[in-house]
Amino acid sequence: MKIIVTGGAGFMGSNFIKYALKNHPDWQVVNFDKLTYAGNPENLKEAESNPNYKFIKGDIAKATDVEQAIGEGVDTIINYAAETHVDRSILDPEAFIRTDVLGTYTLLEAVKKFKVAQYIQISTDEVYGSIEEGYFDEESPFEPSSPYAASKAGGDHLCRAYFKTYNLPVVVTHSCNFYGPNQYPEKLIPLFITNLLENKKIPVYGRGDQVREWIYTKDHCRAIEMILAKGKPGDVFNIGTGQEKQNIEVTKFILAELGLDESMIEYVADRPGHDARYALNCDRLKSLGWSPTLSWEEGMRRTINWYKENREWWQKIKSGEYLEYYKKQYKNK
Ligand code: NAD
Ligand code: DAU
Repeated sequence: MKIIVTGGAGFMGSNFIKYALKNHPDWQVVNFDKLTYAGNPENLKEAESNPNYKFIKGDIAKATDVEQAIGEGVDTIINYAAETHVDRSILDPEAFIRTDVLGTYTLLEAVKKFKVAQYIQISTDEVYGSIEEGYFDEESPFEPSSPYAASKAGGDHLCRAYFKTYNLPVVVTHSCNFYGPNQYPEKLIPLFITNLLENKKIPVYGRGDQVREWIYTKDHCRAIEMILAKGKPGDVFNIGTGQEKQNIEVTKFILAELGLDESMIEYVADRPGHDARYALNCDRLKSLGWSPTLSWEEGMRRTINWYKENREWWQKIKSGEYLEYYKKQYKNK
């Protein structure tokens, strides 16, 4: 099977590519990535010598880039590419609309034109908005709060419409918060771990009482692997673990693991439009035979250790050195 993974140089895309190459030696995997600030070729260093792996620099919102890559032949596209950080979307939404809406449209048009057999849209629980009690299922309406969530919802609506109108083989996934190795240190968990490793304070928004549901990288990769094998055109799957934590619980866990106390916390102004709680009903995915394998505590310990052992990776990003590196490496491509 030949798969194009868009956004494969980012956090979860790169984790999926490494998982796929390790567990499916008969798959050919193409990483199609624009290399924005979040795309880091170093995430895939170990894959570069693998004959089943290929990198193509390209923009999902440019039809010529997409058609050139798909024109080489492909069975499946998994769309991880997106602008992903809520705070950035509040400051500057335009790139979000371009990549998450127009980019998804461009990919769907190419799937139609080249008759690609399977398209999987990697999306988020944030499209459903916030829920005080209970759980969102796959029929819950979209009520996005941030420009990020709204742009992902736009892309997901297009996916559902392209299935209904053109019968395209599209599957949409809505996942809870990812965490694990290689996550860009702007998101809560890697930001807090790396700040603390540098003896810097950690900014908790508001009172820190918002709730997120967490999934470790490997468990998300296993969910996508299952959906690739068993998903049918038009399917929608929530992906969650039931591992719900208040932000302040996450914060205190990291502090305790690093032997630090709460004086490192700085309570700062809340995020505008901040969703209080996300929580997913995942019965549909579980009925395929998937369930998470890692406890939150075990996943967090592995994650904290990874950031301790890979200081060079995140220090390059935090110092801006990495941006210079990739400009040099990829300036002519
Ligand atoms: P990320 O921000 O770490 O990486 C995104 C990748 O997409 C980068 O490599 C970037 O270079 C690439 N990209 C951005 N714009 C592009 C474009 N126009 N063309 C081609 N490539 C482009 O992302 P992530 O956190 O790993 O998230 C991956 C996907 O999963 C996204 O679609 C996101 O919405 C979704 N998601 C993320 C989470 C989470 O907790 N991070 C949870 C649920 C769903
Ligand atoms: O729910 C899935 C979503 O999870 C994905 O679709 C997004 O791409 C991903 O970024 C993530 O969104 P969140 O907004 O939940 O993640 P973030 O790490 O930015 O924040 C997690 C929680 O922590 C949120 O309630 C805001 C809070 N927070 C975040 C940061 C960066 C803080 O209190 N302080 C911070 O500095």
